[in-house]
Amino acid sequence: MSRAPRVAGFWHERYPPDAFLRLDETSDSEFYAKARRGPHVDALALETVRRVVQTLLTERRPSILDLMAGESSHLPDALETACVVGLGLDEQAMAANGRLSECRLQDLNHDPRLPFADQSFDAVLNTLSVGYLTRPFDVFAEAARVLKPGGLLLVIFSDRLFKAKAVKLWREATGAERKMLVEEYFASTRAFTELYSFVSRGRPRPPDDPYAGFGIPSDTIWAVYSEKRGAPAGRAARPAVTPTAMPGPSREELERRKREVRHTLRCPYCEEPLTKFELANSPFCEWPNPFMYVCFNNDCPYLVGGWQVMNEQGNPGFSYRLMYNPEQDRCLPVPVPSVATAKEYMVTPRG
Ligand SMILES: C[S@@+](CC[C@H](N)C(=O)[O-])C[C@H]1O[C@@H](n2cnc3c(N)ncnc32)[C@H](O)[C@@H]1O
Repeated sequence: MSRAPRVAGFWHERYPPDAFLRLDETSDSEFYAKARRGPHVDALALETVRRVVQTLLTERRPSILDLMAGESSHLPDALETACVVGLGLDEQAMAANGRLSECRLQDLNHDPRLPFADQSFDAVLNTLSVGYLTRPFDVFAEAARVLKPGGLLLVIFSDRLFKAKAVKLWREATGAERKMLVEEYFASTRAFTELYSFVSRGRPRPPDDPYAGFGIPSDTIWAVYSEKRGAPAGRAARPAVTPTAMPGPSREELERRKREVRHTLRCPYCEEPLTKFELANSPFCEWPNPFMYVCFNNDCPYLVGGWQVMNEQGNPGFSYRLMYNPEQDRCLPVPVPSVATAKEYMVTPRG
């Protein structure tokens, strides 16, 4: 069967010919016809998805297109909508999605044209699915077309995937590279205003999660979003998505605890005991003294908030742990690329 013409061929062809191939090139319809239900990320990550959607959907009774829809559209229960149209391949999942007012079964990799008039929707949501698109530039061009001026395109993704069905480029990319790729999908349309992004990572899994206690953090959630150009003049800007507030001390309390660290040897952010670490004798990094104290609490608000701070500073994929330098009586950040690391810098815990 012939494929629909590529409306965004220029962009697609900038990538190597195999960039958008999958390990499993059999029919997507057949793949999703076999029940692949269940949450695709852990409960905390799902809560983050819901919070991002809730924060950004500021329209009154919006008309929403849920692109690549499944069992949930992640909409707040209290949100009244004009309509929520689901388009995807999983008929049963969409039938189970109580928020959809209409369902369309369509393989976007076969035909990326959306069966809707120009400027039909206030928001287009695409959650936990973008890595499966083999013709993303066409789909994003279509999403822009069906959005009203000022409408929201919100793409949320995690680091989980059906490996066989994700395109090579996505499979082989890091989280930060995936974010940049999605930003390029947006930019290719030339239809959007400023691009915004959000990442929630490194948070502990919920206590009732089957993998809680294994040191595996909650699934990372990334969001890239923007508004279609031409919003009505004077319309209020959408609020920024902020990281989930973690319990932390007030500024004054924090300063007091920092002054006391030399006696308490506790992290001023979470009050957990600091771990004494002998430092590596590395030719690349000269340390002023033989050991430091580090906070290894994976729930520490300093570490948890750091993923977003580093992302905003242009260092996506990094956070930092609190390190105390006993020689200088000073607390400072030590960058970490995952909750498991920091050992590149340090050698042996010293009790
Ligand atoms: C991991 S699920 C995510 C479902 C839902 N968006 C969510 O957040 O729970 C991936 C979804 O992408 C849809 N999908 C995958 N390939 C597709 C394609 N070629 N065309 C349309 N939808 C597709 C499937 O129907 C499936 O429901």
